[in-house]
Amino acid sequence: MDKEYILSVSNVSRTFKLIDGEFQALKNINLHLSEGEMLAIIGESGSGKSTILKQIACLDTPNEGTVILKGKNVTGKKPADVCHSMQMVFQDARGSFNPRMTFLGTIRESLKHAGIKDKDAQIKKAEELVEMVGLNKDVLKRYPANLSGGQCQRMAIARALAAEPEIILCDEATSALDVSAQAQIIRLLKDLNESLGLSVIFVSHDIALVDGMCDRVMVMKSGQIVEEGPIHEVLSDPKNEYTKQLISSILSIKDEPITFAS
Ligand SMILES: Nc1ncnc2c1ncn2[C@@H]1O[C@H](COP(=O)(O)OP(=O)(O)OP(=O)(O)O)[C@@H](O)[C@H]1O
Ligand SMILES: [Mg+2]
Repeated sequence: MDKEYILSVSNVSRTFKLIDGEFQALKNINLHLSEGEMLAIIGESGSGKSTILKQIACLDTPNEGTVILKGKNVTGKKPADVCHSMQMVFQDARGSFNPRMTFLGTIRESLKHAGIKDKDAQIKKAEELVEMVGLNKDVLKRYPANLSGGQCQRMAIARALAAEPEIILCDEATSALDVSAQAQIIRLLKDLNESLGLSVIFVSHDIALVDGMCDRVMVMKSGQIVEEGPIHEVLSDPKNEYTKQLISSILSIKDEPITFAS
């Protein structure tokens, strides 16, 4: 029998109907996530990274294939059926919050949904969650407009953790941030992965960011997985031509001298 994975995606394909025909965004995707694993999915814009996460989180339904979560077939289920095990963190953290609600209000809603009904228990848990993501509990009194992009992204992770999920799906969760805030957020995810045993799928177009943080990487191009393996192996000895191009493009960006406008 196959090894038990916390998440298994088998032969998933997704075709969208368009006015003038159809477009196959995912072609026979196979993906397995072990408990406590941190998996990176990288690839250029339009390669299908968000589409595969949507199939996993039941935000969309594949035309073919299956998604198995903790041994149960969840293909075609609703997000509410899987949100206790799996939470998604998006690129636009600020936009994902209600601008008229304090963070305490937002996190209490998530905790209520997760079954914590007592107000004092909600407040205590909310304070624990913000501390866990490296923020001061005072930020709970603030509104989304009052925090930086990096702080909002930490809050989005705190809200995701409120459901006590086993898996976190991050869709370009750091792309809107500057380089140092990006590194801090992925470091935070790595710490949570290690301390809580969280399984993480981290989608990015930036192979340099995931280097050293994720255990394994899958490289997507045109709706297919063109290469996968332990991250250090893929980076040091890429087999696929497209992966080689992705890696050499980072090296060439790193080689560019930094110039400042006067
Ligand atoms: N609902 C839809 N209807 C039609 N086409 C879609 C739909 N959703 C996605 N696509 C197409 O599927 C392809 C993959 O989209 P997806 O959003 O998964 O890319 P991505 O890898 O996440 O890109 P990015 O890095 O820009 O976020 C794109 O060509 C996109 O236009
Ligand atoms: Mg995307």
